[in-house]
Amino acid sequence: MSSPNETTVNGYTRKWWKEAIIYQIYPRSFKDSNGDGIGDLKGITSELDYIKTLGIDVIWLSPHFDSPNADNGYDIRDYRKVMTEFGSMDDCDELLEAVKERGMKIILDLVVNHTSDQHAWFVESDKAKNNTVRDVYIWAPPKSGREPNDWVSFFSGSAWKKDDATGEYYLHLFSEKQPDLNWENSKVRAEVYDLMKFWLDKGVDGFRMDVIPFISKHQTFPNFPDSYDGRPEFVYASGPKLHDYLQEMNREVLSKYDIMTVGEAFGVTLEQTPLLVDERRNELNMIFHFDVVRLDRGEGWRWKPWTLPDLKAIYSRFDRELDIHCWQTVFLSNHDNPRAVSHFGDDSPEFRVPSAKLLATMLLTLKGTPFIYQGDELGMTNYPFRKIEEFDDIEVRNAWRAEVVTKQVDPEEFLAHMLKTSRDHSRTPMQWNDSEDAGFTTARRPWLAVNPNCREVNARRAQADPDSVYKYFRQMISLRKKTPALVYGDYHDLDPINPTIFSYTRALGPDRYLIVLNFSRDEIAYTFPEDLKAKQVLLSNRKTSEENTTLANLRGWEARVYQAQ
Ligand code: NOJ
Repeated sequence: MSSPNETTVNGYTRKWWKEAIIYQIYPRSFKDSNGDGIGDLKGITSELDYIKTLGIDVIWLSPHFDSPNADNGYDIRDYRKVMTEFGSMDDCDELLEAVKERGMKIILDLVVNHTSDQHAWFVESDKAKNNTVRDVYIWAPPKSGREPNDWVSFFSGSAWKKDDATGEYYLHLFSEKQPDLNWENSKVRAEVYDLMKFWLDKGVDGFRMDVIPFISKHQTFPNFPDSYDGRPEFVYASGPKLHDYLQEMNREVLSKYDIMTVGEAFGVTLEQTPLLVDERRNELNMIFHFDVVRLDRGEGWRWKPWTLPDLKAIYSRFDRELDIHCWQTVFLSNHDNPRAVSHFGDDSPEFRVPSAKLLATMLLTLKGTPFIYQGDELGMTNYPFRKIEEFDDIEVRNAWRAEVVTKQVDPEEFLAHMLKTSRDHSRTPMQWNDSEDAGFTTARRPWLAVNPNCREVNARRAQADPDSVYKYFRQMISLRKKTPALVYGDYHDLDPINPTIFSYTRALGPDRYLIVLNFSRDEIAYTFPEDLKAKQVLLSNRKTSEENTTLANLRGWEARVYQAQ
């Protein structure tokens, strides 16, 4: 990229994690090496060359710690042990080494807003009111014979669970098997910092921090405010001591290593973002903001339509509001959201490939560190769920019990929304080949059904096909890596209200790039703004020999990256 001595580019401090391409692995669904139907660490190690060849610099591993799996590993029983289904600590060390050998890095999922209810601390804390670890969690007496306040769990029902033995309630913002830790307690914080060091000393390169803005709670535990709009995350996030805790964590741990951090900032507004990521504040490097992936989300699990101008407005707002001291992430999916191509593209047989490539173009040319979720590099799609029994996710099952079984919501209506919003779409097994089990497992049944389109959509086929989504991702990644303007360059949306075309420039000094994306099935002749001339198509998802400098004749879901002047 630029010379090694140069410490800033376009005003931004150069950092490896700003230039990196990150790939998220959800271990349960990636690759099963021992035939038990569940992905594991050895499975990941066996496919590192596949990831490296794609051009990935950093792997984000979703939780691999010992867990009873109420929420697929986001309920941790022992932070220093590997989940039995995923293998052993030796397998983990082998994975870390194999990642390093290939010149890649790896970050872990730090889930410390809550633990599993089977964590040794909770087992003890739960026993009596006056024991020494009681205040490791958040306990409160009933209020007028009921829950301490009206907070709800993200997984349905109250956020408080009564313990009959002591008559007190404990707080769980997620399932009742995920009690919230009491960060007011300095012992809790010291233990978190310790376990972070345990993994950093093993050589991991940072953390993705699960729902980190929730760690500080208002100690009066007020009811929802009158302004509550059905989105509890905006009430739970950014408690009074959040920034003190993160600055302490930075002092005690993060500042001592050359690592990266990315906070899952559910419930954080754009205005609050610099408080977390402004480099002068010494908290986190980046956050995941949910405006894009939740653009089409109504209350809870409900879907609502979205428009391209709304999507574009989010990227522009971010660009306007975050200055050179802040850095962003770009992601279109993860293990909590539907598949990118089904969500923002067109997963019909005709347009799946071009639209997945268009999304790759967008992901890798926008401003911010790009995160690719496993399988999106193949254009994997949502799963055609038909009945509730096919879902695994605790969020879906609890919501069904709370709302459908109680006859508040019609089953058909619920399932129709789930076809758009369920987290299980992204959790179906990775599709490695065209066999019935997609080469994911040799077990009779994988833990979650394989998408039947694995016959066509799979890694081995994609690796052999020069026109595959995978090959396109590779090209796009390589273009981004050799083009500093795509990393550090200014962003400018050329046509914010156009309902089908997303066109923008990235510019760094004299280097200017024009990106034109047709978010529709229609053929569109798109004229560039007058002051802009396209010099050369650097990459397109549809073969083109067009040399027009002022206009692009785009086919359905066509994407082009031009060098411009
Ligand atoms: C966010 C994680 O991404 C999600 O999968 C999990 O259910 C919750 N946090 C609780 O840990």
